[in-house]
Amino acid sequence: MPGSLDGKVAIVTGAGRGLGRVMTLALLAAGARVAATELDAEALDETGQAAAAAGADERILDVVADVTRDDSAPRIVRATLDRFGRLDILLNNAGINMSLFRRPDVKLNVKSWEVTPEEFRRIIEVNVIAAFLMSRAALPIMLKQGWGRIINVTTSLDTMYRGGMQPYGGSKAANEAQLLALAQELEGTGVTANVLVPGGAANTRMVSPAQEPDRAKLVAPEVMVAPLLWLCSNESDGVTGRRFIGARWDKSLPPAEAAKKAGAPAAWQQLGRQAINPASMR
Ligand SMILES: NC(=O)c1ccc[n+]([C@@H]2O[C@H](COP(=O)([O-])OP(=O)(O)OC[C@H]3O[C@@H](n4cnc5c(N)ncnc54)[C@H](O)[C@@H]3O)[C@@H](O)[C@H]2O)c1
Repeated sequence: MPGSLDGKVAIVTGAGRGLGRVMTLALLAAGARVAATELDAEALDETGQAAAAAGADERILDVVADVTRDDSAPRIVRATLDRFGRLDILLNNAGINMSLFRRPDVKLNVKSWEVTPEEFRRIIEVNVIAAFLMSRAALPIMLKQGWGRIINVTTSLDTMYRGGMQPYGGSKAANEAQLLALAQELEGTGVTANVLVPGGAANTRMVSPAQEPDRAKLVAPEVMVAPLLWLCSNESDGVTGRRFIGARWDKSLPPAEAAKKAGAPAAWQQLGRQAINPASMR
């Protein structure tokens, strides 16, 4: 397991359930202080109770917020600084797919033309715009201190263009492309930007029981923990613009080796570099 995160301060979005809750509790267990932010107050309260049961109630700050709102990100960052005095890590985890708008007993396979404009917009708001708003609010602090981590939870590359999975897939592609551009812009600043995904359908609310009744076949949310702790530690200094797959992380290996096996360039960089760019953009 990577080293301790004592002294580090993280913001986790969507911390009330699923991957967000597991990652929040893991960061706390590793010694970090966490501003746990979430839309659903009841769910966030349950994460707070789990943190208290683990003896970490002094190191968690609950912030109920809708991260798609323009005023949420500055408020969350301000509350974090007021309580903990610093900010090192932003974990953009909050996300939604079409299952939120459909009955959980119906198998999810929505044709693009069946998606309503409201559903389409909301998915883009949560999965793309919120990550931009949160990063925009957090980055000035990280840049000033010369150290920071932006970690976005996107999805498997083939989900991005899978029929029946839109606009979720496309929204995650937009998120990951933006993240990769951000990594380039942050080069040399001490702030890194990487993607972390479970590596398959994970056992959370997002994957409805109708989708996969045998929950044991789903990826355990805990696969996120080892790569997350390594990414948040000083051991991953300089590692940026990459995507890590939790299910492929081999805990029997030293973290740097596990990271090599479970990591790849973020987005689809290997396919690019074909377009002719104006010299000014190089
Ligand atoms: N579950 C999977 O199979 C899977 C696979 C790949 C990637 N992901 C990604 O992992 C992340 C976490 O998903 P999960 O599976 O834990 O889902 P989940 O539904 O269990 O949890 C997501 C949490 O985000 C919160 N949230 C949603 N909109 C929000 C908003 N506007 N403001 C604040 N909080 C908000 C929800 O209330 C919820 O508690 C998502 O970005 C998802 O796209 C999930």
